[in-house]
Parts: sequence; structure tokens; C-alpha cells
Amino acid sequence: MTIVTERPGTIDPAHVRDVMSMVPTSVTVVAGQPELTGERAAMIVGSFVFISLDPCLVGFFVSHESSIWPQLNKATVLGISTLGSGQAAFCRKLGKKEADRFDERYWSQGTYGAPLVTGAVAAMECQIENVTPVGDHAFVLARVLGLSIGSLTDPLVFQNHGFSGLLPH
Ligand SMILES: Cc1cc2nc3c(=O)[nH]c(=O)nc-3n(C[C@H](O)[C@H](O)[C@H](O)COP(=O)(O)O)c2cc1C
Repeated sequence: MTIVTERPGTIDPAHVRDVMSMVPTSVTVVAGQPELTGERAAMIVGSFVFISLDPCLVGFFVSHESSIWPQLNKATVLGISTLGSGQAAFCRKLGKKEADRFDERYWSQGTYGAPLVTGAVAAMECQIENVTPVGDHAFVLARVLGLSIGSLTDPLVFQNHGFSGLLPH
């Protein structure tokens, strides 16, 4: 393996993307339905993280360039669903903003009214605590109101521009 050390300020963004694409992430859908517009919005994040047990806090990073985040930021409650290995096609559908992505067969409503993806490995409903700018992203800190284990156990993993499962088949 070649370790490349680069001087600060000289790192090529394309190289950063290539290297970071090797780091596997979970695939989590953040969804909401702002009361004012009534229009459902959802985005995929690979940056979802569990932070604190008491109080129960989670977080994720959103790009300043995201067009979906400003809509989600208006929702009172966010639904956060971590996808299972059989949900890569749904994830692509969401990413491409296909017209039927909000078809009811993919979604259920949580106790607090947030949209949750049916059959995810883990699902929770959250309220945004605060949003902090970090570089070209913002860190969203959210308080968990309720959570449940989903019907699938094998998570969807994103690495090297592709999807796979975690468990051997
Ligand atoms: C596997 C995967 C992980 C992603 N993780 C993030 C993330 O953590 N934060 C983020 O802002 N966008 C992330 N994105 C990109 C967004 O889901 C979305 O495609 C992007 O914000 C462009 O859409 P928009 O401009 O309509 O919001 C990810 C996309 C994929 C496919």
C-alpha cells in the first residue's frame, strides 16, 4: 500500500473523493413533511451517526448545496431510516428523484407523524436541536423522540460507488 502525504492546502479534491469513496458507510434516508407545504421531502445521507444515549441524540452532515435540506429543515419531525441490503433499488429511485419515490408502498408513518421507509433495518423519529456550519457542510444535531428495529437485519452498505450487503449470503 502506498501512503501519500500531502502538504496542507495542496490536496486535490478529486483525490479526496477517490480516497473517501473507499470508506464504507451506512445508507440512511432522512425524510420529512413540512406542515406548511404538506409536500414530502427525502434525502440520502451516509454521514448518519449515533451520538448520545442521555439525552438521546443523533446527527448527520448535509451539503450547503443540497436543495432538499431547506425543505427538510422546515419539518417539525424528521423520519430517519437506515436501509437494508435489499433496498438499493429504492435508494437509487430516491437519488434520481423518480416520480413514484413517495409511493405509499415504500413508506409508513411513525408515531410522531414522520415518514419512515418500510422495511428499514432501523427507524427513528427526531426533532432538530441545532444546525452548525462545518466547512462546505452543516452538522445537524437531532433529538430522538422514538425509535424501532426494522424488519430487515442486513444493512445496505455504500462503498467505492456501489451498494452491497454486510452479511455473507
Ligand atoms: C450513499 C449516499 C450517501 C450520501 N450522503 C450524503 C450526506 O451525508 N450528506 C449530504 O449532504 N448528501 C449526501 N448524499 C447526497 C444526497 O443524498 C443528494 O443526492 C444530494 O444532496 C443532491 O440532492 P439535492 O441537491 O436535491 O439535495 C449522499 C448520496 C448517496 C447516494
